[in-house]
Amino acid sequence: MSESAKSRAAALPHLRRGRLAKGDPIPLPLTMAAIFHAPGDATGFDQYGRFSNPTWDAVEHMLAHLEDAPCVAFPSGMAAISAVFFGLLKAGDRILLPSDGYHTTRALAERFLKSFGVAYDVRPTSSFLDGGFDRYRLAFVETPANPGLDICDIAAVAEAVHRAGAVLVVDNTTMTPFGQRPLDLGADIVIAADTKAPNGHSDVLFGHVASRDADIISRVTDWREASGAIPGPFEAWLVHRGLETLDVRFDRMCASAEMIARRLKNHRAISGLRFPGLESDPSHNLARAQMERFGFLISFVLASEDRAEDFINNCALMQAATSFGGVHTSAERRSKRGDAVPPGFVRLSIGCEPVEELWQAIEASLDAIGG
Ligand SMILES: Cc1ncc(COP(=O)(O)O)c(C=O)c1O
Repeated sequence: MSESAKSRAAALPHLRRGRLAKGDPIPLPLTMAAIFHAPGDATGFDQYGRFSNPTWDAVEHMLAHLEDAPCVAFPSGMAAISAVFFGLLKAGDRILLPSDGYHTTRALAERFLKSFGVAYDVRPTSSFLDGGFDRYRLAFVETPANPGLDICDIAAVAEAVHRAGAVLVVDNTTMTPFGQRPLDLGADIVIAADTKAPNGHSDVLFGHVASRDADIISRVTDWREASGAIPGPFEAWLVHRGLETLDVRFDRMCASAEMIARRLKNHRAISGLRFPGLESDPSHNLARAQMERFGFLISFVLASEDRAEDFINNCALMQAATSFGGVHTSAERRSKRGDAVPPGFVRLSIGCEPVEELWQAIEASLDAIGG
């Protein structure tokens, strides 16, 4: 972990310290309120639950500390992505999306942006720079991309996108601010599904937009207020609590993923193994240069759909579930979600279980399906 990541992690549980009055609770109080006492002038305080809420403020303060940039909270990762698209784009714009990233981002463009006059193209993450960005108002990358784990050079893409006069958005969901820092690499906007590792307990959906550009922050805040796509205070409170342990969870998950990926490499049942931390991975050199950690996601292919299902369903320390980043190790056969991957392709999200016990369970389940 870099020195700056360590100091961010150390300060995180103490962010409210300076504001506490004698007798205040140390844990964050939850403010469930649609209305606030609002006599007289209507400025400078909380008035209505669609405009602001003290529990959002606290979670946004934490996220801003982690991102080193102002943040706006949303009720899901998709709500954060929608806020960027609907807050910044207008009819006649064209945008560029990853062909191998989270499929709902493309579905949003196909099913909704197109009918508002915003066109889109797609490009593979690993060759995102090829073809330039001259036609685009906005380029959106996801790196490592979910689920194939290809990566692209954020700094090089940011430079080329800016040269073309466009805006670069990075979906940093697979990495979190402890694993990768797209704004420091030149991106204009980070979006993330805090549903995953930041909350970490798989009990809430949440998202945020981070940017150092005041106009962008103001537009997505306006979008949130006008569209009503607001997070619930209880969800914000849960994410606030989850973030307090993100550093330890993420550290354990990344370290375990690295060890498990190395062992998977030698298992006869596995082909097409992808993990950016492996020296043999096509993305490894770039990953070393741009990522602070290699993440907790691993992907690979088993011989058939049935074998992949058996591997997931019969592993005693694995949950069969979509999503990733929780304390429980989980896995999914991604072709069933429509991703363009082989039928036996598995995305594995390493959780917080002790690693030797976890490896034994994974190995036993792989051995049982045969090579
Ligand atoms: C990379 C990525 N971005 C965005 C999202 C959307 O997040 P949410 O499900 O919180 O809307 C997901 C969900 O899986 C994702 O994997």
